Amino acid sequence: MDYEKFMKRALELAFMGTGNTSPNPRVGAVIIDPQGNIVGEGFHKSFGDPHAEVEAIKSSKLKNFEGYTLVVSLEPCNHSGKTPPCTEAIINGKFSRVVIGTLDENPDVVGSGATRLQEAGVEVITGVLEQECKNINKYYFKYIKTKKPFILMKIAQSLDGNIALKNGQSKWISGEESRLFVQKLRCEVDAVLVGKNTILIDNPKLNVRDYDFPSPKKVILDPELSLPLDLNIFKDSDRGKTIIFCHKKYAKTRKANTLALAGIKIEPIADDDSGLLDLDTIIKVLSTKYQMTSLLIEGGSQIFSSFIEHGLVDELHLFIAPKILGAGMQSFENISLASIAKSYEIDIETLEKIGQDIYIVGKLKNK
Ligand SMILES: NC(=O)c1ccc[n+]([C@@H]2O[C@H](COP(=O)([O-])OP(=O)(O)OC[C@H]3O[C@@H](n4cnc5c(N)ncnc54)[C@H](OP(=O)(O)O)[C@@H]3O)[C@@H](O)[C@H]2O)c1
Repeated sequence: MDYEKFMKRALELAFMGTGNTSPNPRVGAVIIDPQGNIVGEGFHKSFGDPHAEVEAIKSSKLKNFEGYTLVVSLEPCNHSGKTPPCTEAIINGKFSRVVIGTLDENPDVVGSGATRLQEAGVEVITGVLEQECKNINKYYFKYIKTKKPFILMKIAQSLDGNIALKNGQSKWISGEESRLFVQKLRCEVDAVLVGKNTILIDNPKLNVRDYDFPSPKKVILDPELSLPLDLNIFKDSDRGKTIIFCHKKYAKTRKANTLALAGIKIEPIADDDSGLLDLDTIIKVLSTKYQMTSLLIEGGSQIFSSFIEHGLVDELHLFIAPKILGAGMQSFENISLASIAKSYEIDIETLEKIGQDIYIVGKLKNK
């Protein structure tokens, strides 16, 4: 049987959960009858909802699956959480075979779902389109293993390394196709994070407009809660999705109260040694209190610099437009190194053209 073909379908289904399943993974499943026909399909729709396997079983309207194969992108769970274990539904349904894309890397459960099925006499095949199945859940895997979100950094810069002119103008450095692509990146993450100057100068919406997926949460670093309330970010209908980190001493001000009444979450925290908001604390709050598995850093230069210097970036997404801006604002204006040997090195994983721009995806070395 062509398991890869069915796993591709399971991955398509898993993708439909984008933006809704976190902190759970995205999972898709299909059921194949003994003649090789798909008779059931399902995906994990949103956090707390039934898992993909159970959805597929329900959609088939069948009860007995002797001779049938279940193809699922992630190892079925073998523990009770918000829903009962999927392994029990599979065993009770008498499935003959389960084809798994990748094992669940959660250290508490890895392999236990596959083992439970084998012990119950179900044939188990693992590792079909394994890399693709790992990729779709790479944010979840990092989070479940480290309790920290996967951090992406997106920069749109000119050929000579500028993200804005000296006067702050940055609209638009990259082309339309790249900007559309950035919305795709936003669909995939739990939140985007930006500094207060970017909000003030660019007045961005930071949402998803051209795809049918929910917008991510917005995280803003505004130490003194100085941003005026008429900015786009505060007008947006999903204000409830905005979180502002500020210095502790601004937590009880009238402005903090006004923002909180408007549905915006205020997170007062301590400074780091340099007087800036402490990034490690921010990451901790986002992962523990908000259960964020992924975060997209969208600027500006000071924020880019701080995240790189703190070694927090997992993946860099660089859009380089074929433009020369001259003396402007550099992508990493605040990083100043004593020697080339100390530079931050990148392993380039993808290099392609999007419209007229060069698009690079890379991993920070020594991470
Ligand atoms: N082309 C692009 O990809 C792109 C993307 C985004 C922005 N931009 C451009 O970038 C420019 C703004 O960049 P910017 O560097 O001036 O400002 P920024 O990075 O947007 O914001 C920096 C501010 O964030 C606050 N902050 C709090 N904690 C921080 C921390 N740990 N590290 C760094 N900052 C922290 C500080 O406020 P306090 O000063 O109150 O302490 C700091 O001044 C704009 O011109 C915008 O158009 C370009």
